[in-house]
Amino acid sequence: MTVIVRDLRPDVRADAEGFSDTRRLALPYMLSTPESVVHTLTHVHPDAHFGQLIAEEDGEIIGTAQVSVAHDSPEPGQGSANIYVRPDRRNRGAGSLLLRTAQERLGRLGVTKLFAWVLDEPDNRAFAERHGFRASRSAWFLRLDLAGGTLPPRQEPPSGVELRTAADFADDPRPVFELDAATSSDEPSDIDVEFTDYEAWLEEHWKHPLLNRDLTTVALVDGRPAAFSVAYTDGDSRYATAMTGTAREFRGRGLAKLAKNDSLHRARTAGCTEAFTGNDTGNEPMIAINKWFGYEICAKEVRYVRELG
Ligand SMILES: CC(C)(COP(=O)(O)OP(=O)(O)OC[C@H]1O[C@@H](n2cnc3c(N)ncnc32)[C@H](O)[C@@H]1OP(=O)(O)O)[C@@H](O)C(=O)NCCC(=O)NCCS
Repeated sequence: MTVIVRDLRPDVRADAEGFSDTRRLALPYMLSTPESVVHTLTHVHPDAHFGQLIAEEDGEIIGTAQVSVAHDSPEPGQGSANIYVRPDRRNRGAGSLLLRTAQERLGRLGVTKLFAWVLDEPDNRAFAERHGFRASRSAWFLRLDLAGGTLPPRQEPPSGVELRTAADFADDPRPVFELDAATSSDEPSDIDVEFTDYEAWLEEHWKHPLLNRDLTTVALVDGRPAAFSVAYTDGDSRYATAMTGTAREFRGRGLAKLAKNDSLHRARTAGCTEAFTGNDTGNEPMIAINKWFGYEICAKEVRYVRELG
């Protein structure tokens, strides 16, 4: 039985299904569908050189890698390779082969510092360390039971604040882009992000198949978007927050809580039964907000880094 690694073929449905099935089994706290897999591959900015690798054994997809150059970071030479092997198909060489292929590809593209998310389990961490990586920041995955749990009651927006959905911006999403760009750069991370390309954002984020515009809430202050909470859904009762952010000048007024609470209530009404979110372990305000909603930590991921070349 031989494991091979190859690129996902976006026009082959079985590739996209095998990729998203593997991701869901290995990482059940993140949403993935065949449509989102193909969308990401075909819509990420060309400068990211984004690739999705598949490890296959006797025709069965058993591992995946997402490989990219951090083109939207102000620091050049950074890239990432996030590798997930099906839990029931480990120790067959898939992870090592995916990593080697990813490193060779990114090395040729000038990447000298490689980041990889690793689920905090002894085998995974030992794998990363054997391959020359050292641990860096970490992040929690959190889960909220929307079906059985209780949400804080809906709040009445304070005077001057109105709640809208992303669907209300369908004709002109630029204000949502501006808020996303202003807040994403403040999210704690190993790789600083700066996004300025509206057309690329429309393609990659606004048209993302998991984005649920009706469940995404935007809080306006005096008519201006000030805070938002971005909802992803997979059509199968699972909801995930892709981003919550408040523009700097509006922080500390309860607007992130207000926007996310509205989104969660909408999600529950729409039939979503569980909600996921992920936070850098140092993001104290966001963790405080999520605990207030009743989210519970369900897993931890550690960002590993190694120098290439
Ligand atoms: C995190 C963020 C969304 C918070 O927005 P906000 O509108 O200021 O949040 P709110 O006012 O609704 O609530 C903040 C809560 O965090 C608490 N908080 C603030 N700083 C804190 C800290 N250092 N430790 C613990 N709790 C803290 C506040 O006390 C408040 O809780 P309270 O209402 O019980 O007092 C905002 O800082 C942001 O946009 N950051 C950058 C983007 C980001 O990191 N997003 C999260 C991605 S996962």
